[in-house]
Amino acid sequence: MSSRIEEAAGVLRAGGLVAFPTETVYGLGANAEDAAAVARIFQAKGRPASHPLIVHLADAARLGDWVADVPTTARRLAESFWPGPLTLVLRRGRRVALEATGGLDTVAVRVPAHPVALELLSVFGGGVAAPSANRFGSVSPTTAEDVRAELGDAVDVVLDGGRCDVGVESTIVDATGDAPSILRPGGVTREDLDRVLGRPVAVHATSRIRVPGQHPSHYAPRARVVLVDAEDVVAEAELAQERGRRVGVLLPPQLAGTQVKTQVQVAVPGSMAAYARGLYGFLREFDQHGCDLIVASLPREEGLGLAIANRLRRAAGPRSTE
Ligand code: TXA
Ligand code: MG
Repeated sequence: MSSRIEEAAGVLRAGGLVAFPTETVYGLGANAEDAAAVARIFQAKGRPASHPLIVHLADAARLGDWVADVPTTARRLAESFWPGPLTLVLRRGRRVALEATGGLDTVAVRVPAHPVALELLSVFGGGVAAPSANRFGSVSPTTAEDVRAELGDAVDVVLDGGRCDVGVESTIVDATGDAPSILRPGGVTREDLDRVLGRPVAVHATSRIRVPGQHPSHYAPRARVVLVDAEDVVAEAELAQERGRRVGVLLPPQLAGTQVKTQVQVAVPGSMAAYARGLYGFLREFDQHGCDLIVASLPREEGLGLAIANRLRRAAGPRSTE
C-alpha cells in the first residue's frame, strides 16, 4: 500500500483527484490549497460549487494553519474525538482555498480515523478537501467498488481500504461559538458530545427543512424510499407489490424472520452500529436488484439511530410517505 500512497500523494500535489477510505465513507480528495483541483471535485460529483467541502488533516497540531481561531470548546472536542467521525466548523484560516468553503467565512475540518487516510494525509503533508465520493445527491460509497461505480474515470486514483467501519458520515458540529450545535448527525453520537461538553448539545440538522427549489433528496438510491411505522412495513410492501411495483424492504429487527411477499428483502441488524455500517450497502443492493420502491421504518433517534433516521428521511425526500 505504501507505494500506492506515495503515488496518490503525488497525484494530489499535481492537482489530481484521489478517492480514499475513511472510517465513515470514502472521500473524493484534492489539495485544499489548490483552487483548480478543488474545482475538479465539484465537476466530478456534479455538485453545485456553493456546497462547502470538509478539509481533512493528519492531526490536530496544524489546525491553526487552517482555521482563524480554535475556541476552548472546539479544542476539547478535537482532543476527545480525533481521529474520528467528528467534523468541526470553525472560522476559516488563510491556507484553505475559498472554493473549498463555497465562499463561506467558516471551514469544516476533521481528522479521520482510518490508517490509509492518515498515511495519505501525512505523506501528502497538507490539507485534503474531500466530500463523499459519490455523484451529487446519491448514496455515499462505503467500498472502493462503490466509488468506481459512482465516479469511474473522473477520479485519478482509488485507494482501497476495504469496507468503511462506521458507514455513515461524520457528525458536523458548528464550533465557532461557545455553545456548539449539531448541523448533521453522524458517527459521533449526540450522547457522546453531551458527555464531553457536560450539557445537552442542540441539534440543528436541516433534514426536515424543505425549501422549495432546493434539491429534494440526498443520500438517495434510484428507487423511491417510503417511510412507514415498523408495524406497517410488511403490509405497505405487499400492497405496493400487488400494485405492480418492484419492492425492496428494510425489515426492522423486531420483524426478523417474517415472510414478506416482495422481491427483495434485507433484514436490518439489531445493533445500530451494524445497521449504520450496512445502510448504504443495503440501498445500493436494492438499486442493483432493480427495485423501484423501498419500504423502511425509522429507528429510535438515539445513539447512531439519530444519523440513520436522518439519512433515511433525506433519502425519502419531501414525499416520504405514500
Ligand atoms: O464523514 C464525512 O464527513 C465524509 C468523509 C469523506 O470525511 N465527508 C462528507 O463530505 O460527508 P460531504 O461533502 O459529503 O458532506 C460535507 C457536509 C456538507 O453537507 C456541507 O454542507 C457541510 O459538510 N459543510 C462543509 N463546510 C461547512 C461549513 N463551513 N459550514 C457548514 N456546513 C459545512
Ligand atoms: Mg456527501
